[in-house]
Amino acid sequence: MSASATNHKTALEGEKSLSPVLELRGLVKRFDDHTVLDGIDLSVRAGEVVVLVGPSGCGKSTLLRCAIGLEKIDGGSILLDGQEVSGRERSQELRSRMGMVFQSYDLFPNMSVLDNVMLAPVLVRGADKAELRQRALALLDRVGLADKADARPATLSGGQQQRVAICRALAMDPEVLLLDEVTAALDPEMVHEVLQVVLELADEGLTMLIVTHEMAFARAIADRVVMLDGGGVVEEGDETFFDAPVTDRAKAFLKTFEFHRDR
Ligand SMILES: Nc1ncnc2c1ncn2[C@@H]1O[C@H](COP(=O)(O)OP(=O)(O)OP(=O)(O)O)[C@@H](O)[C@H]1O
Ligand SMILES: [Mg+2]
Repeated sequence: MSASATNHKTALEGEKSLSPVLELRGLVKRFDDHTVLDGIDLSVRAGEVVVLVGPSGCGKSTLLRCAIGLEKIDGGSILLDGQEVSGRERSQELRSRMGMVFQSYDLFPNMSVLDNVMLAPVLVRGADKAELRQRALALLDRVGLADKADARPATLSGGQQQRVAICRALAMDPEVLLLDEVTAALDPEMVHEVLQVVLELADEGLTMLIVTHEMAFARAIADRVVMLDGGGVVEEGDETFFDAPVTDRAKAFLKTFEFHRDR
């Protein structure tokens, strides 16, 4: 695990000067009078893996949902490749240029695995169905599920379904992949196979913004860790975040994981 993560981190060194693929500037999100995100600045560069952590309810899912246009925002801006995405087509453009995988994989139950992966490209690009089919099969092969192409999702394990959901998100060639607690609904024995796929994607240079409570995984995959709390970024850093957090909030947050591990 750590060896492959190291490769990916080394490969990134040469790209440090690149401008962000995804950038949030002063992002504000409120639900009624509750300000969940109070001016967040966050950027993800090409090939970079940024891990977002923080206590339950601090707004991690909300941040991802805002970034991909599933929630309207109350202030700030979202830039892709240095250009602000705004206007009437804003949320459609954000959704078509980024992919997201959720805790609940929500595959369409009455379609085959392959059709689930092909659906968005066929709807949007339609043109050459045979080619899209080949691409979808290649994606399934990449996550070890080529033999499940014709199966219905319900006949797959949770870990297999989540790997299909990752393929579905990759099928549109996202510039950035957003992952929200993709292992949280899985039985423990299936967590590893999904995290392994995500690590391989990092090695291949995919740009990702990942929310996870799996701290060992976060440490292995993160180029940068960003901790949210109280509506803002509390602390940001590389893996030293885990060993030597600076703020009291980060120390207290990481302590909760030690507590669970000791029990
Ligand atoms: N649709 C909504 N309407 C009203 N409040 C919401 C809505 N969605 C989220 N919230 C509130 O926004 C805050 C942030 O929620 P969010 O789900 O983003 O937290 P989180 O960091 O992802 O938590 P967790 O680690 O438990 O998944 C919470 O107080 C939540 O109750
Ligand atoms: Mg959440």
